[in-house]
Amino acid sequence: MRKIGVIYGSTTGTCESIANKIAKQLDISILDIINVTDITTERLNNYDVLLLGSSTWGDGELQDDWYDGINKLKAANLNGKYIGFFGCGDSYSYPDTFCDAIGLIYKEIADSGCNIIGKISTEGYDYSNSLAEIENELIGVALDDVNEDDMTDERIISWLELVKSQI
Ligand SMILES: Cc1cc2nc3c(=O)[nH]c(=O)nc-3n(C[C@H](O)[C@H](O)[C@H](O)COP(=O)(O)O)c2cc1C
Repeated sequence: MRKIGVIYGSTTGTCESIANKIAKQLDISILDIINVTDITTERLNNYDVLLLGSSTWGDGELQDDWYDGINKLKAANLNGKYIGFFGCGDSYSYPDTFCDAIGLIYKEIADSGCNIIGKISTEGYDYSNSLAEIENELIGVALDDVNEDDMTDERIISWLELVKSQI
C-alpha cells in the first residue's frame, strides 16, 4: 500500500473540510492530513502519494500559507512520487481565475519527475479561464463549494476513483 499524505492550505476552512472528506474516503489516518503550515520537507519525503489542496485568493493567487509551502515542496524529492491536486474556488465570482492556485502549484513542480495523477475533464464546469486547465483538462479536481456544494461529494468520489486507479 502506498503511503498517502493529504496537504492543504485553507483560509476560511473550506479546503480543510474537503481535505478531511478526502482522507475519510481513503481511510487514511488523521496524522496524514496536514495543514501546509505544518509540513516539512522531511515529512513530505515520507509519502509516496501527495494530494495537494489549495483554495484560490486575491485575483488568482495562492492561499497564503502555500507561499512558504511551495518552497518546502520544491525542496522535497518528488522524483517518482504520485501527486494529485484538489482546488477550492468560486467559479461564479471569479470565472477568470477559477481554482488558479492548483495550477500555480503544478507549474512549480511539473518538472520534478513526479507523476501527476487525477487529471479530469472540464465537462460540467462553468468558468472562462483557469490556470488549473492545461491542454483542455483540469490538472486535478476543482471544487466550487460556494455555488455548487451539491456537486462537491460526487466530484470528490469520482476523482478519488481515478486517483486510486493511478497509484
Ligand atoms: C477576496 C476573495 C478572493 C477570491 N479569489 C478567488 C479566485 O481568484 N479564484 C477562485 O476560484 N476563487 C476565489 N475566491 C473563492 C475562495 O477560493 C473560496 O471561497 C474557497 O472556498 C475558500 O476556501 P478556504 O476557506 O479553504 O480558503 C476568493 C474569495 C475571496 C473572499
